[in-house]
Amino acid sequence: MQLRRLGQSELFVSPIALGCWPLTGMTSLNVTEANSLATLEACPDLGINFLDTAFCYGAAGESEDLIRRALGHRRDEMVIATKGGIHWAEDGSMVKDASPARLRWECEQSLRRLDTDRVELLYLHAPDPNVPVAESAGALKDLLDEGKTRSVGASNLSIEQLEEFQAACPITAVQPHYNMLQREIEADVLPWCQTRGISLCVYWPLLKGLLAGKLSRDHVFRPGDGRAKYPMFQGEEWQKNHDLVEQLRTIAEDVGKTVAQLVINWTIHREGITAALCGAKRPDQVEENAGADGWSLSEEELGRVDAALAERGTPVTKAAV
Ligand SMILES: NC(=O)c1ccc[n+]([C@@H]2O[C@H](COP(=O)([O-])OP(=O)(O)OC[C@H]3O[C@@H](n4cnc5c(N)ncnc54)[C@H](OP(=O)(O)O)[C@@H]3O)[C@@H](O)[C@H]2O)c1
Repeated sequence: MQLRRLGQSELFVSPIALGCWPLTGMTSLNVTEANSLATLEACPDLGINFLDTAFCYGAAGESEDLIRRALGHRRDEMVIATKGGIHWAEDGSMVKDASPARLRWECEQSLRRLDTDRVELLYLHAPDPNVPVAESAGALKDLLDEGKTRSVGASNLSIEQLEEFQAACPITAVQPHYNMLQREIEADVLPWCQTRGISLCVYWPLLKGLLAGKLSRDHVFRPGDGRAKYPMFQGEEWQKNHDLVEQLRTIAEDVGKTVAQLVINWTIHREGITAALCGAKRPDQVEENAGADGWSLSEEELGRVDAALAERGTPVTKAAV
């Protein structure tokens, strides 16, 4: 895979990254440890050198543990991005704590789980409503200066928060959600990053599997499948999304690719996008997704995608999913 420069850093990443959230089975079903390890192990030979994880992926850091176990001897080939500032309370609820002391502690825990002395990229996972963004950013700047991370990123921040962050700590990468159906960042965050030479590494490129083209229209989500509760997976939105996927399938078949490959290829060729963080839980998924690189859609094919998206129309929900 042709690597891309991460912001203004000396780091180079594959445009297709492995998103390491599904590996722990917190919202995906049928996750096995053997498959999760095999998914990670497949990455270097597929040309994927970019892993996206977080302190809170897994009830007790299982995602970072899996990365250590799978990639120990190949660790130096990889660009590992992790995040701090979110953890789980004992009752399973999400806590946003991005106080300097907490960020430092989580960073130390992440390094220990990964068995490494530094990560390549450390993000603020999300703003903490009780801590000024500048304070969280200052803590990450200290960790950068101490060499515990080689670069710093920010996730889920508004433009105002990014400005505040950037004043306290240089930003190498920004991580928002972005996919064919959720393109809000094109109006603000994307141009903000582009003019500053900051990379955009986007999550939910496959809209949690909806745009991977494998869920049938009459799919019944089993209890425990975290997607069932989201508006984009329900009612009229779900039907319209399926109409879109069928149109994408026709285009994908004409170019000899799968729907997931078409969707990821489209994403990584959008101006300003450095990497698509594609979640996967099995080696066959990461293999398929890696096949989204190394080719381009023609103007005519891109026009057909645009037409399909125009026919789908803007999703009613502005909520995350
Ligand atoms: N910064 C943040 O706040 C934030 C938030 C969310 C995610 N992220 C990051 O972004 C990454 C991507 O998000 P995500 O994993 O939630 O969603 P995603 O990448 O949009 O979708 C991943 C899901 O799509 C399905 N899938 C993947 N490849 C497939 C293939 N080839 N064929 C069929 N299905 C396929 C799998 O679901 P099934 O097999 O279960 O159907 C997988 O769990 C995460 O892993 C994480 O690293 C960051």
